[in-house]
Amino acid sequence: MKTFLYGSLAVVAAAALLGACGRQDSTTYLVMGTNAEFPPFEMRGGPGGTKVVGFDVEVAKAIAAKVGLPLKIEDMKFDSLLPALDAGKVDMVLAGMTITPDRARNVDFSAPYYKATQVVLIRKGDPAPTRKEDLQGRTVAVQLGTTGAGVAVELAGQENVRQFTSTMDAVVELMNTKVDFVVIDEQPAINFQKRNAPDLDLVRLAFADEFYGVAVKKGNAELLARVNEALAEIVADGRYDQFVDQWLIQAPDPAAETAAE
Ligand code: ARG
Repeated sequence: MKTFLYGSLAVVAAAALLGACGRQDSTTYLVMGTNAEFPPFEMRGGPGGTKVVGFDVEVAKAIAAKVGLPLKIEDMKFDSLLPALDAGKVDMVLAGMTITPDRARNVDFSAPYYKATQVVLIRKGDPAPTRKEDLQGRTVAVQLGTTGAGVAVELAGQENVRQFTSTMDAVVELMNTKVDFVVIDEQPAINFQKRNAPDLDLVRLAFADEFYGVAVKKGNAELLARVNEALAEIVADGRYDQFVDQWLIQAPDPAAETAAE
């Protein structure tokens, strides 16, 4: 009885918390927006490859548990994520999303939970760039709306950058010799390189550090506080290291990953 009471109180409190951020969903979930094309942070996997799995999904589950609601995942284009958050269609965004001053004007970010950087993918056997300036005037494929797209435009010039809604399409463009390089975050690059090892090489240049954050709707201080608590907890109790080990170090083939909820 006691448990039941606490349980229902938690749900009422959670519903109030989400109500405050304006999502029009009568069903009570904590909704994560993501773009499941960014292995190993989010990708399609599980039986039949139909589920969204990955490092960010584990983090989101810990946040949902903290809030006291089941997690629901909305998979969409990367550049639709922040508008969806603003429109109240999702409660939070976890998408390997780099905290940038521009984005932070429109949404609120959690404490950083992962340190990343950009890298360059090239076709195996092609001359590797040795400095960032070597990208000047070369053709580059990127994912639309990403920090990698920004870096590519700055270094290669707007007219030389092809922007794709899918990360895989950008990599395919490179493999089909339509562009010279792909600029993308390091972990997805490692993942794509491993899967296409005979074709691709990974090149590290002096790109800046980037930090991933969980985004919530601007002003949703309640949810942001829960997110930060959950992040601190998973670091303190070792779950964060477990997620790193499972998804970044062991890096399962997503298609073979059946254990993931
Ligand atoms: N970290 C980069 C950014 O924030 C790329 C993120 C892409 N994420 C994704 N799920 N496709 O722009």
